[in-house]
Amino acid sequence: SSDVCSSDLKAGAAVFASIKKIHGNDFTVRFIDAGVPHMAAFAEGMMLRDYSYDHYKMKDDDDDEDSTKQIRLACSEKEAGELTSLVEKYRGIAKGVHLSRDLGNCPPNDMYPEEFADRAWEWAKQYDNVEVTIINYDQALKAGMGGLVAVGKGSSRKPCMVIFEMNKDIKGKCPVLVGKGITFDTGGISLKPGANMDEMKYDMGGSATVFGTMEALAQTGHKGKVVGITCMAENMPAANATRPGDVIKGLSGKTIEILNTDAEGRLVLADALTYTEEKFKPKFIVDLATLTGAIIVSLGSEYAGLFSNDDKLSNQLIEAGENVEEKVWRMPLNKNFDKLIDSKNADMQNINYVGGAGSTTAAQFLQRFILNKTPWAHLDIAGMAFSKYGGALNSGGATGYGVRLLNKLIEDNYE
Ligand code: BES
Ligand code: MN
Ligand code: ZN
Repeated sequence: SSDVCSSDLKAGAAVFASIKKIHGNDFTVRFIDAGVPHMAAFAEGMMLRDYSYDHYKMKDDDDDEDSTKQIRLACSEKEAGELTSLVEKYRGIAKGVHLSRDLGNCPPNDMYPEEFADRAWEWAKQYDNVEVTIINYDQALKAGMGGLVAVGKGSSRKPCMVIFEMNKDIKGKCPVLVGKGITFDTGGISLKPGANMDEMKYDMGGSATVFGTMEALAQTGHKGKVVGITCMAENMPAANATRPGDVIKGLSGKTIEILNTDAEGRLVLADALTYTEEKFKPKFIVDLATLTGAIIVSLGSEYAGLFSNDDKLSNQLIEAGENVEEKVWRMPLNKNFDKLIDSKNADMQNINYVGGAGSTTAAQFLQRFILNKTPWAHLDIAGMAFSKYGGALNSGGATGYGVRLLNKLIEDNYE
C-alpha cells in the first residue's frame, strides 16, 4: 500500500519553502478532513525541503532559527497517535536524506576518501547495531583491488573502501548496497573540459546515498541485516596517475585495458562488486553510481536508469520508486553489447570506441563482475544526484536521491 502521496509531499515542500521566508519555523498547519497518511506525507515534504547547506557561510543573526520554535501540525485527538508515529518515522528518513546531501555538498577540498571514512566511523559510534570497517589504500593494494588503486593513485588523497554493517549478527543472506564514491572526478589524464567541472564533487553521490540510507534505516530502527559498501577515490591527473592504455588487474583477476581514465566509476565498482559477492554472498546487490553523462541524455533528471539481471528486484525497485517519488526506468542489458567492450590487449576495455549506448555498455561492463548469479541492479543516478536549479523537494545542490527509494525497498520487502 502506498503510504506516501506524492502530491501531498510536493505540496508540503512548496508550502514550507514559501512560508518559511515569512514566518521562519513558527507556524501551524491545519488540515480539514485530509486523513493521516496525507497529513504525514505533507509533513514529510516540509521536512525534506527544510534543508540548506551553509556550513561555509559566515553566520548571519537574521538567518538564525529560533530553536525554541517548531512547526506545528493541528489534528484531532483520534489522529494524534498515528500521525506522530508516522511523522517520527519520516523525520528519521529525512535525517538520512539530509546527511546524504551534506556529504555531497561538502566542497571537494574537504571531502576526500579518508574524510568520508572518518565521518562514517564517527557516525557509527552512536548506534549499537552498526559497525563500520575501512579498507585503506595499503590493504586495497595488497588485496589486489587494482581498479580502486588505478583510479585513486594519481591523487594525494588515497582511495579506500568503507563497509557499513547493520545488525551483522543476524545469520543468512542480506541486501548489500554499493555506492560509487569519486570525491572529485577531473577525468584524470583524459581530462574533462573546464566548464561545470565543479559539479564533479557530486561524483560521490552513490556513496552518499548508501551512507544516508544506513542512517535512515538506523533512525527508523530497522531490524534486518543490511550491508553498505562504498568505493572511495579521487580521480586526478598526476605524474603517477593511470594513463590511457594501461592494463590493470582487478580483484576478480580479470584484466582491464583503461582506454579512457574518465571512465573510472566502473573500475572502482568492479572491485566493490567482486568484494561484495565474495565476502557477503548477498541476497541481492543494488549499486548506485553517477556513472554516465549518457543517462542524462536518456532520462534527464526525472528517472534514474535501472539495469538489472533480475525481474523481481527490478519490479520492486520500480514500485518503491513510484511510491516515494524517486523514480527509476528500466534500460536494457544484452550480451550483444559485450563485443563493444572486448579488448585486443586485455579481458575487456573500459570504454566503447564504436560509440552509442554509453549507459548500457557501462552497465554491461559492471555485469561482468557479477559471477555468482546474485540478483543485481545498477542505478545510474548521474541525472538525479544533484540539481543546478533545485526540484520540488530540494533547493539545488545534492538531492539525496535514492535514500528514500532504498529505504522503501528494504522496509517493504526485506524486513
Ligand atoms: N562521473 C562521470 C559521469 C557524469 C557525468 C556524472 C555528468 C554526472 C554528470 C563519469 O565518471 C564519466 O566521466 N563518464 C564518462 C564515460 C565516458 C568516458 C565513457 C561520460 O559519461 O562521459
Ligand atoms: Mn569520469
Ligand atoms: Zn565519475
